[in-house]
Amino acid sequence: MVDYSVNGSVAVLMVNNPPVNALGHAVRVGLKTGIERGAKDSRVRSIIIIGKGQTFPAGADIREFGKPSKEPWLTAVGNLIKTCSKPVVAAIHGTCLGGGLEIALFSHYRIAVSSARVGFPEVTLGLLPGAGGSQRLSRLTGLPVAMEMISSGRHVPARKAKEYGIIDEIVSGDLLKTALKFAQEVQSRPFKDRCLRYKVVPNADRVEEYASAALTQVKKKYKGFEAPVACVQAVRSSAELSYEEGMKRERDLFLQLGQSGQAKAQQYAFFAERAVTKWQMPGGSYKTAKPLPVRSTAVIGAGTMGSGIAVCLLSAGLPVYLLEQNEKFLQSGVKLIESIMAGSVKLGKVSMETAKRAATLLKPTLSYDDIKDVDLVIEAVFENLDIKKEVFSKLDKICKPSAILCTNTSTIDINRISSATSRPEKVVGTHFFAPAYHMKLLENIYGTKTSPEAVATVMKLGKTINKVPVLVKSCHGFLANRMNAPFSSEAIFLVEEGASPQEVDQVNEDFGMPMGPFKVRDLSGIDISWRINREVAKVLGTSITKETRFLGGNRYCGLNDDFYDKGRYGRKTGKGWYLYEKVGGKTAVADPEAEEIINSYRQSRGIVKRKITPQEIFERQFYSAINEGFRILEEGICNMPEEIDISWIYGFSYPKYRGGPMFYASQIGLQRVYDRICHYHETCPYSIHWVPNRLLKKLAENNVPFTQWANHVSKSKM
Ligand code: 3HC
Repeated sequence: MVDYSVNGSVAVLMVNNPPVNALGHAVRVGLKTGIERGAKDSRVRSIIIIGKGQTFPAGADIREFGKPSKEPWLTAVGNLIKTCSKPVVAAIHGTCLGGGLEIALFSHYRIAVSSARVGFPEVTLGLLPGAGGSQRLSRLTGLPVAMEMISSGRHVPARKAKEYGIIDEIVSGDLLKTALKFAQEVQSRPFKDRCLRYKVVPNADRVEEYASAALTQVKKKYKGFEAPVACVQAVRSSAELSYEEGMKRERDLFLQLGQSGQAKAQQYAFFAERAVTKWQMPGGSYKTAKPLPVRSTAVIGAGTMGSGIAVCLLSAGLPVYLLEQNEKFLQSGVKLIESIMAGSVKLGKVSMETAKRAATLLKPTLSYDDIKDVDLVIEAVFENLDIKKEVFSKLDKICKPSAILCTNTSTIDINRISSATSRPEKVVGTHFFAPAYHMKLLENIYGTKTSPEAVATVMKLGKTINKVPVLVKSCHGFLANRMNAPFSSEAIFLVEEGASPQEVDQVNEDFGMPMGPFKVRDLSGIDISWRINREVAKVLGTSITKETRFLGGNRYCGLNDDFYDKGRYGRKTGKGWYLYEKVGGKTAVADPEAEEIINSYRQSRGIVKRKITPQEIFERQFYSAINEGFRILEEGICNMPEEIDISWIYGFSYPKYRGGPMFYASQIGLQRVYDRICHYHETCPYSIHWVPNRLLKKLAENNVPFTQWANHVSKSKM
């Protein structure tokens, strides 16, 4: 795992543990042995640590977390490097992260190629640097940079790292050759003072001021996460305590975090995010299907979603034809794109060069003829089957045979849309989440006839435009919206029965959702849900009236309609479930008028208001969604619980530190979740979503561990 060789007077320790040279046990042993050997080797006067393949070590081996730790620990390896009688040079390329950066900071010199990135991303795994990084980084960079870097987990580009003092030299050309030259040069220099342990933390007397600013920031930015706060505290101790005491403090905080449920959930989410890239569908998988090249694109529909999708494509450097039916809509889409781009530049999310290039890549048009040669089209017109079919029939006639035809539908079965074409194998769903330029989930959907090649193309496109793509099989509502349906219906039923919108929102926000369901409704528009409900009724061959209490055999609550009738559409009208400071305002306050609407709704239907506990609010929303999640698994809409969890994290901003609804259910215990679902099935009749799922029952009864759920899914499908 670590190859030892000698080149002239320099020993080279080449870490060879693909794919990311993680510092697993064998690598730690290899580094320890290598340093000891180099120190004793009479030919050797300096030592290089370098990574083979694509990167310098990118951190500890996360798969070892939670297992009994085996010596030598990383700190012991680091101490050997630090106290080595010969200078040690870290030669960095790729990603030097976590334990990798610890090794580099223990070394006496650090050189890097300009494309390298360094950082302490432990915080994203619910941890903090575990081998003294919080004590040594601040000695190099000063407290504010160390606090920010460690609490954000940001990857810092090499040039910036040099500015911070982390990297000594940026080098070009062959890294090993340059490192050999550098290591020879430093042989004649004294190097004991290069040891960070002996440096003083700059401006240590201002630690209180820096820490309080950093804490205010992280508590706001990473609300609910424990690790960022602990990261600031660890760095703070580098200024307040001696090096040894600071190391101990870091260790205590590390162990504390390591045992927390948050770290477990965040580490699960790390691997879940990678697991969902390994997609499978009948007839193909990520291993067998080849994506088609996408060099040019078109977006049909320049509304909010279409414009947002265009921004994603343009930001990734893809040319986009934006097609609308009239000049007015087209121009308003172009304006929206420009304003999103300008906002992103202002927030530092997009560089000025990217925004300038995007302007040249955007081609607004009113003519379908212009898009005949594009490689991929994304339709983003109104969520109406007839309109979508009309668009796809036109696309079928005009687009080149190899073009991939995507629909940004949030609910409609792909098979019904692809039936309007003579090439259903090229038709695939690409469901973006609002706002499309911001939310990271891309729910890709295959229909019965979609080809694995088309799926491979949109899975790759998702990565290209910096989304997290998750593949699901087509059905009404797919994965995310199918689970969201009981979740948000229950929110309204709870208010119908006696809770206030504020109480429901509070329970959700206390759990870690960034916004409660009623604030979300006000943001997305009460008029939108009003219209969607009418579309659903139309598909069901019925209509909604004041008397409607059931829709498609399911309980229906007309409260949303009463708000709509009063012109309270949400933020866009300055009032909805809440009152806002102005039209388009963001500050939601409780509104007596809204309360009156709710009260008179209850009275008119003879509903006697009852007190509802936070526990009931929580369970009815989240457990009904979990029950639906098991149904989705059972039906093979997705292949593993990770796909559900990642969809919630990146589609609905579910708190990552809870892992996702399915992981959360596994932590609560499936038997308990199942029992509560049975309870609500009895107490909340008339909602199909409370029918306890058979797969859930089976897994609960057999006490099947989370990691085995996916195996039972495929068995239950057979
Ligand atoms: N441990 C174990 N496996 C790891 C790993 C790690 N630190 N980092 C990546 N991997 C695995 C991934 O799970 C994936 O495996 P798979 O192919 O079986 O799915 C494979 O390596 C490739 O990873 P990516 O798909 O993420 O590859 P990318 O090229 O897109 O990204 C990366 C590379 C930027 C290094 C990214 O993998 C990453 O961010 N890794 C985690 C880095 C990290 O968090 N390091 C800190 C670890 S904690 C630590 O060091 C504690 C210390 O302070 C004591």
